[in-house]
Amino acid sequence: MLGLRLDAMHVVLAGALLTASLQPSAAADGREAGQAILERNCSRCHAVVAGQPSPLAEAPNLYTVLGTYPWERLEVELSEGIGSRHKDMPQIQFSIEDIESIYYYLHDRSPDAESRRPQ
Ligand code: HEC
Repeated sequence: MLGLRLDAMHVVLAGALLTASLQPSAAADGREAGQAILERNCSRCHAVVAGQPSPLAEAPNLYTVLGTYPWERLEVELSEGIGSRHKDMPQIQFSIEDIESIYYYLHDRSPDAESRRPQ
């Protein structure tokens, strides 16, 4: 049953992603790029936008969860592969540029000021 529901979700998401990739302005804006990265890789299971329910009920809203991570943690988690902690998740190692975009999306500013702060 769960499998069938996820397949239907897939079709819907594939259509949404196709539409998104046809918008040329998305890559130009760090904030939108960060959102697009999360949507492309994670939105099969996780809500990526604030306040939205996740497609997979057990998967937390990423805007909420990742938004609580300080830069250092976000960087470590996403570059080392957050998926190593749960088996269904993709093992993706994001580049620093990708992680900066994601941070920008979550906080509406670049991580520089925070990451320079003494530990
Ligand atoms: C196949 C479904 C699936 C995909 C795709 C997925 N996740 Fe998850 N994720 C889950 C589930 C289910 C949970 C909650 C249960 C758990 O923590 O194991 C979760 C939990 C999390 C958590 C909570 C904290 C933690 O580590 O336990 C984070 C952060 C997270 N995912 C990040 C991501 C990111 C970033 C992506 C995209 C690169 C992603 N997930 C893609 C299913 C998925």
